[in-house]
Amino acid sequence: MAAGQDEIPEGTIQNVLEQESLKWVFVGGKGGVGKTTCSSIISILLASVRPSVLIISTDPAHNLSDAFQQRFTKAPTLVNGFTNLYAMEVDPTVEAEETGSSEGMDGFLSDLANSIPGIDEAMSFAEMLKLVQTMDYSVIVFDTAPTGHTLRLLQFPSTLEKGLAKMMSLKSKFGGLLGQMTRMFGVGEEFGEDAILGRLEGMKEVIEQVNRQFKDPDMTTFVCVCIPEFLSLYETERLVQELTKFEIDTHNIIINQVLFDEEGVESKLLKARMKMQQKYLDQFYMLYDDFHITKLPLLPQEVCGVDALKAFSQHFLKPYQPLFTRGTVEELELRVSNLQSLLKDAESELERARKGKQPLNP
Ligand SMILES: Nc1ncnc2c1ncn2[C@@H]1O[C@H](COP(=O)(O)OP(=O)(O)OP(=O)(O)O)[C@@H](O)[C@H]1O
Ligand SMILES: [Mg+2]
Repeated sequence: MAAGQDEIPEGTIQNVLEQESLKWVFVGGKGGVGKTTCSSIISILLASVRPSVLIISTDPAHNLSDAFQQRFTKAPTLVNGFTNLYAMEVDPTVEAEETGSSEGMDGFLSDLANSIPGIDEAMSFAEMLKLVQTMDYSVIVFDTAPTGHTLRLLQFPSTLEKGLAKMMSLKSKFGGLLGQMTRMFGVGEEFGEDAILGRLEGMKEVIEQVNRQFKDPDMTTFVCVCIPEFLSLYETERLVQELTKFEIDTHNIIINQVLFDEEGVESKLLKARMKMQQKYLDQFYMLYDDFHITKLPLLPQEVCGVDALKAFSQHFLKPYQPLFTRGTVEELELRVSNLQSLLKDAESELERARKGKQPLNP
C-alpha cells in the first residue's frame, strides 16, 4: 500500500462532483451501513455545484425523512433550507398495485404479463423514471434498498425488454386471432390489444433510453457504501461483480463507521475492533486500488438533520485526519522538549549535588 501512494485515486467523492455529465448516481450497499446518510450528503454536495438535484429513495422502508427530518412523499418536495434540492420516496411494489398495471388488460395479456417475473415492479420503476425524465433535473441520486433489491431493479430494463419481445412475438403469431378475440368480447379500441401494446411500446423508448444511459459511464455511476467488516467486504465484492455484469460503472467506495486511533484509545475492546477493521481496510485497498475510497469516521452520535449532514459532508471532500495523528508531531516535539528540560534540570541538580558533596568528601 505504501508503494505508489501517488497513483492511488483520491480518497474522496470529489470525482463525482466534478463529473458534469453525470445524470444518475446510485448509492447502495448492505443494510444499515449508511446508504441513506451517504446518498443524502452526496445530494447536498451536488446541489452546491448543479442547478437542480433530485434524491429518490427506492427503499420500501424509507428513511430520507429520518435523515432530513422532513416528511417526503412520492412527489418531489423541496428540501427545507435549499432552493434546488428535491426529495421523493417511491415504493415500486405498492406503485404497481396502485396503478394496476396488469389489471384492466384482458385476461390473456394480464396472464402473460404476470408470467414474466418482476414485470410489475419493472413497469412501475420504468413509469417512475419516465416521469422523472420529463422533470429535467440536472442529476438524480438514488438511495437504494439493501443490495438484493437494488440489483433486481437495475435488471429492470432487460426484464421489460424480454417481456416486450415475448408480447411482440405473440402479437405477430396470433395478432389476427387476438383482434378477433377482442372484437368478439366487445372490448373497445382503447382497451384492445393495440392500446396495451401501444403502452408497452411507448415505454420501450424510455426503457431503451434509460438502459443506454445506465450503461453509459459518462451518465451513470454506482457508489458502494460499506463498513470495514468481513460480511460487508464480501457483499461489496458481489455488488461490484454484479454491476460489472450489468455494465454499470462503479469506481467509488465509501467505507463508513471507521474507528480512528483518536485519543490514544485505551479500551481493549476498541483496540481489538480497530485491529480487525484495519485488516479489512487493507483488503479493501488491495482489492480496489483503482477506486476512490472514502473513509468516514464512526461518530458518537447519529447523523440526523440537515445541519448534521452538512457537518459530516466535509469528510466526503477531504480525507479524514484523526486528531491523534494530526497532533503526533507537535506532541512528540513537546514531549521531547519537556524531557530535554527535565534532563537538564536533573543534570544541573546532579552537578550541584556532586559539587556540594565534594567538599565533604575530598
Ligand atoms: N459514521 C457514522 N457515525 C455514526 N452514526 C452513523 C454513521 N453513519 C450512519 N450513522 C447512523 O446510522 C444509522 C443508519 O444509517 P443509514 O440510515 O444511513 O443506513 P442505511 O444503509 O441507509 O440503512 P438501511 O439499510 O436500513 O436503509 C442512522 O441512524 C445514521 O444516522
Ligand atoms: Mg436507508
